[in-house]
Amino acid sequence: MIGVAGLGHWGPNLARNFAELGSLTWLCDLDDELRATFAKRYPGLQVTGSFDAMLADPEVQGVVIATPVPTHYALAKQALEAGKHVLVEKPPAMRATEIDELLAIANERDLVLMPGHLLLYHPAVRKLKELIDAGELGEVLCIYGNRQNLGIVRTHENALWSLGVHDLSVILYLLGEEPAEAVAYGRDFLTEGVEDVVFCYLRFPSGKIAHMHLSWLDPHKMRKITVVGREKMVVFDDMELERKVTVYEKGPWKRAESYGEWQTRSGDIYIPKIATDEPLKLECQEFLQLIAGNGDRRKVAEDGARVVRALDRLTVSLNA
Ligand SMILES: NC(=O)c1ccc[n+]([C@@H]2O[C@H](COP(=O)([O-])OP(=O)(O)OC[C@H]3O[C@@H](n4cnc5c(N)ncnc54)[C@H](O)[C@@H]3O)[C@@H](O)[C@H]2O)c1
Repeated sequence: MIGVAGLGHWGPNLARNFAELGSLTWLCDLDDELRATFAKRYPGLQVTGSFDAMLADPEVQGVVIATPVPTHYALAKQALEAGKHVLVEKPPAMRATEIDELLAIANERDLVLMPGHLLLYHPAVRKLKELIDAGELGEVLCIYGNRQNLGIVRTHENALWSLGVHDLSVILYLLGEEPAEAVAYGRDFLTEGVEDVVFCYLRFPSGKIAHMHLSWLDPHKMRKITVVGREKMVVFDDMELERKVTVYEKGPWKRAESYGEWQTRSGDIYIPKIATDEPLKLECQEFLQLIAGNGDRRKVAEDGARVVRALDRLTVSLNA
């Protein structure tokens, strides 16, 4: 059974999904009014302001943490030490040292430590992974993410932490590698110390490279990931309703008679069908499956840790 902590903007979506999956038993928030609202919405559930009280229930196997980012590490650590499996919203910690500590506790006790990287459950991202792993694109050369818009202007979290976590989790998932180099440049134009525009460069041991453009000072509304392979290229555009993924049969090639000169080739462009499953439901189902002993819980935790380590390195670079 599952308990959800944090009933602000995002937590109620997690609570709804676990309720629909028949697994929700506890709700926790520090705010009295929110507790009253959710006690009415979910009669029969335990609703508390005490995280400790929720952890004390031996029936609670898994805890979902949807509280503000700076609280993630401490709450996740407390839950793991109480012997609970943990699904913690992104990013699960703010420092590499913190996530490494959480990872060690989870591994030592054989507990699930799953980050809430929603995009990894998006059927379009799964399709990109499927195309890459099946060798459809040929050798992958580079990936870049565009996450730009005018607003919402954040004043506490910079564009790297607010927007970059999503693309970074996808890039690392698609490539399955930890970057050898992670560099970020940005500027705080609107709020001192909070970068509104960030450009990131990642280089991987295999030689692949990646880039992220993160900004809330931009005329374009973009949520796009482009993967360039030697044989084909593919774009995931989350602003599109029907053409989420487009595969371009485009690439470079050398004609024997052209004395080694590079030519380009443009073939068909096709749009694979993408399932319309709700990513958050798939994420919640995965957590329950991992608790039940299905899937590779160590890999899920390690993948989450990799994202925090890369974020930490990008942050150090940004501040340098
Ligand atoms: N995956 C996604 O797409 C996605 C989208 C939005 C938000 N999020 C993440 O969800 C998390 C919450 O974001 P939000 O916008 O809902 O924040 P929010 O501030 O609206 O809500 C957080 C809630 O946590 C409660 N809280 C704080 N400390 C607590 C504690 N110790 N015990 C119990 N409750 C506590 C607060 O009272 C508040 O109601 C963040 O980590 C954010 O990054 C993820």
